[in-house]
This record gives sequence, structure tokens and C-alpha cells, in this order.
Amino acid sequence: MAPRAAAGPGRAPAPIPAAEYQHRRRALVELAGDDAILVLPAAPERIRSHDTHHPYRQDSDFWYLTGFPEPEAVLVLVPGRPHGETLLFCRERHPERELWDGPRAGPEGAVDRFGIDDAYPIDDIDEILPGLLEGRSRVYYHFGRDKDFDLKLIGWVNRVRAQVRQGAEPPHEFLELGHLLHELRLAKSPAELRQLRHAAAIAAEAQKAAMRATRPGGHEYEVEAALWSVWRHHDAVAAYTPIVGAGPNACVLHYVANNAPLRDGDLLLCDAGAEYRGYASDITRSWPVNGRFSKEQRALYELVLAAQAAAIDEARPGRPYAAVHDAAVRVLSEGLLSLGLLKGSLRKVLEAEAYKAFYMHKTGHWIGLDVHDVGDYKVAGESRVLEAGMVFTVEPGLYVAPSADVPAKWRGIGIRIEDEVLVAPGGPEVLTAAVPKAPDAVEAWMAG
Ligand code: GLY
Ligand code: MN
Ligand code: MN
Repeated sequence: MAPRAAAGPGRAPAPIPAAEYQHRRRALVELAGDDAILVLPAAPERIRSHDTHHPYRQDSDFWYLTGFPEPEAVLVLVPGRPHGETLLFCRERHPERELWDGPRAGPEGAVDRFGIDDAYPIDDIDEILPGLLEGRSRVYYHFGRDKDFDLKLIGWVNRVRAQVRQGAEPPHEFLELGHLLHELRLAKSPAELRQLRHAAAIAAEAQKAAMRATRPGGHEYEVEAALWSVWRHHDAVAAYTPIVGAGPNACVLHYVANNAPLRDGDLLLCDAGAEYRGYASDITRSWPVNGRFSKEQRALYELVLAAQAAAIDEARPGRPYAAVHDAAVRVLSEGLLSLGLLKGSLRKVLEAEAYKAFYMHKTGHWIGLDVHDVGDYKVAGESRVLEAGMVFTVEPGLYVAPSADVPAKWRGIGIRIEDEVLVAPGGPEVLTAAVPKAPDAVEAWMAG
């Protein structure tokens, strides 16, 4: 069935307002302190082949603080600077280049439209930045993320050091920016939650279309095509390369070839999320190619579903993040024992991590601007305590490799069920609940 543009996700939310970007920068500057300076380059453009580029995607941290979409830009935050704390270096307007590559904001547009205090041409950065570093004792920066930019920053610092005998005061502390910034990104604002919900709704619609694009004799890429069709209908792109794996391909955790035939009797695993205005979504469903689960497929599917339900139930303020994974592992292990896929006692299976033969990954990750979003999972050596406003995926699975030492009827079945969960004051809220999940609901949708 062809997806329709009007179905599912509903109206797009309002974009994040300039005032929120300002608020984020202010919060970061407060954390950094008055004697600091913060430097964030935009993502570089990347070559795909010869002279063609990968689609440009802004650096998530830079995007979080500016909403500025262009490459060749550098954000500099200077706490307490009397003429304004937010400086941006960016490309100048260039009518001829804009004819080829599209419009540029230019420094004037950066000030007028993006709430930047002072903007300068990127070509002037070598002249201006050493003067901004001078007199600041601490530099916050992502060291090691972009080697070319690391060298530029060191060069600017050295320019200040060279002036010491003239009275210049170079910075003497160099700190990891992510330590401050990623704590802010972990707690999602109401406007961010609206973007995340919309990205999730688009991804949900795409998963439903993918289910109905599945038929014996088809191919994995035809299912992938249904995903892309829905994403693009709603102005979204892939949040990551989708995984569409049928039969034993579902047991390959990072399978992305997506080109195998769909065989009657196989299960298909589809891990696919949309990115909308930079915000990611991440959903996995597993469904039978012919629309009906076999007995073994259904038994394993129901087990993964029960593990997911137990894990989601832990997504509450005050609970440790690790409880989510522990709940999934416990249910999966009990089930594997009762189905005869594992032997021994539950205690021994958990202690020896014997479940890892069939469940070898963690149960989820933060999600936001990055699909595997930033934010520490442990604080001072202990699992982080969940707070309202955090969003993460809950994605247990079972993967019985074709070579597994179990009865043949189980081999080659790979299942994952993945949803996004918002930690809300009243309990877990599943943002991706629009995709059929109970086995009967999956079968009914595919038959519809
Ligand atoms: N699709 C990436 C993940 O599930 O973590
Ligand atoms: Mn995930
Ligand atoms: Mn996923």
C-alpha cells in the first residue's frame, strides 16, 4: 500500500524558537563560569566520492546551541563579554557561490535571524580569535573530535603565548566541553519533546508501511524503500542506516546490506528511525514475511515482548538506569530456561551471563539529537538515577544464530523490539506506541 502524505504523524511542531537557543547558551555559559571561553566548530563537509559530498549534517552540539545549518562556521561563547556573549564566525554572502550551493545567512543574517550577538566572516577568525582567548583562563572545547580544528585552536593559543612578554595572559586550563554540555542535552525541553514526538510519529508510520510492503518473493530493499518513502513524505531523513534483515540476516546486529530475498516462513527484523530537524527516532519491529508467526517465532517473540514490558516498567523517576537492562535480562533468561534454550538455574545463568549467547547487547541508550545520544550512564561510579524528561530506547532482543547449538527449529530466528520511552512524572510514556507490537496486532495489520 502506498503511504499517503497526510496519514499518521499529523502536523509538524513549531521549530525550536531562537529564545530557546539563547536560553541553552546562557545555561552553558553559567556552568562554564566567567573566566572561561567555549569554542565549537560546525561539522565539516565530507567527501563521498571524488567531488560529491555526503548530505551535510550539522554537528549536534553546534546545532543544539545555534540552530545554524551551515558548514564553515565557529561558535564562540565568551561569558560576561560586555558586547554580547555569543559570537559566530560564518561564511560571507557570495552571490555566485549561492547560485551553485544555495543561500548563506552571512554574518548579518546570523545576527538578524539566529539571535547571535556578534558575527564575523569565517576568513577573519585567525585575526580575531587569539584576542578572544587572551585573558581567559579556561578553554572548553571537544579535543580530538576534529583534528584539523584541534591544530587551529592550538595555533591560536600559541599566538597568545607568544605575547606573554608583552603582558598577554594565555589560557592555562583546557577542558572537555562535553562534560558540561551533554548534561544539558540529556534533559529534554518541552519544545525538544515536540520534535522527538514528531520524529517518532514519522518513524512509526514508516514501520507500518514497511510491514505492508513485505511479501514472500520480495526483497529487503523493497521494505527499505517503503521506509524512505514515508520519511521523505514528512521531510525526514534516516537517523541511521536502516537494518532490514530477513531470516538469518536478522541475527547480524549491524546488518545493512538490505538486499536479500524475502522467504516464506522467515521473520524480518526492521530497525529504522527517522531524523526530523536533527532529532532522531529509533524503532525496531520484527514480523513474519508471510504475515503469520510460526510456533517457534511466536514463542521467542512473546518472550522478547515480555522482557520489553518489564524493562519499560522501570522507566520511572528515581529508578537507576541499570534497572532497565537488568529487568530485560532477567525475563529473557527465565524464558530461555523454560523453552530449553538454556540449561541450569536462573542464578547461574545470570551470574555466568549465559544469556549472552542469545542476547549480547544492552537494552537501550539515550536518544535526542543523536540516535545514541550524549549523557553519562553512570555518575560517580553508580548507575544514573532517572529523571522526568529523559528519553531512551528499550530494545531487548533474541538472536539464535544459524550455527547455534540448539534444536534446528530455533535456528536463524532474530527478534528485536525497540521503542522510545519518555521518563514522565506519572510513569513511562512510550513515544513509538503507534506501531503494532503484540503478535496478533502485527498479524492483523499485515493482513489489513
Ligand atoms: N539503530 C541503532 C540502535 O538501535 O541502537
Ligand atoms: Mn536503539
Ligand atoms: Mn534501533
